[in-house]
Amino acid sequence: MSHFETLGGEGPLRRVIDMFVDRVFADVMIGFIFAGKNRERIREMEYQLAAEQLGGPVVYSGRPIQSVHAKLPIMGGHFDRRRQILLNTLRDCDVPAEVQAAWIEHVDALREDVLGVGHAPHECDHDLQAERGQEESIGEVS
Ligand code: HEM
Repeated sequence: MSHFETLGGEGPLRRVIDMFVDRVFADVMIGFIFAGKNRERIREMEYQLAAEQLGGPVVYSGRPIQSVHAKLPIMGGHFDRRRQILLNTLRDCDVPAEVQAAWIEHVDALREDVLGVGHAPHECDHDLQAERGQEESIGEVS
């Protein structure tokens, strides 16, 4: 039996995803990153991706995860917040523990794709920002 089937198939999975996406959009920490984005599309694409990852008969038809997120201002803490919102949602929906574990494993495997390789995962790089600031002001003077 696949994780998709253990969870109950399409209906229950869509209910989990819809609750998760609504919570993400309304969240005080990361909601701003979703402002103005197409909620229905994100729901559908998150459904397809999760269904595929959980072994369901679905093929993800969205854009590559890396390119979708590359231009967004996502830092390590934002990634962790989304992960926690997902965990809370899975618990609130009584998703079986083994399905939760498999789902979160997929989330963690995509961390570098979402954040970009070489991105400091948990903090701002103040030294790098300071260097960039200097380069910019030198550029403006000359
Ligand atoms: C493993 C973690 C993540 C997964 C699996 C994921 C998955 C997805 C998927 C499937 C889409 C839709 C792609 C499409 O439209 O073709 C999407 C879009 C988006 N994601 Fe993520 N995401 C993750 C992390 C994050 C994080 C941490 C944030 C921000 C806190 C974020 C913000 C967004 C936004 C704003 C969009 C809409 C982009 C647009 O339409 O321009 N995502 N994500």
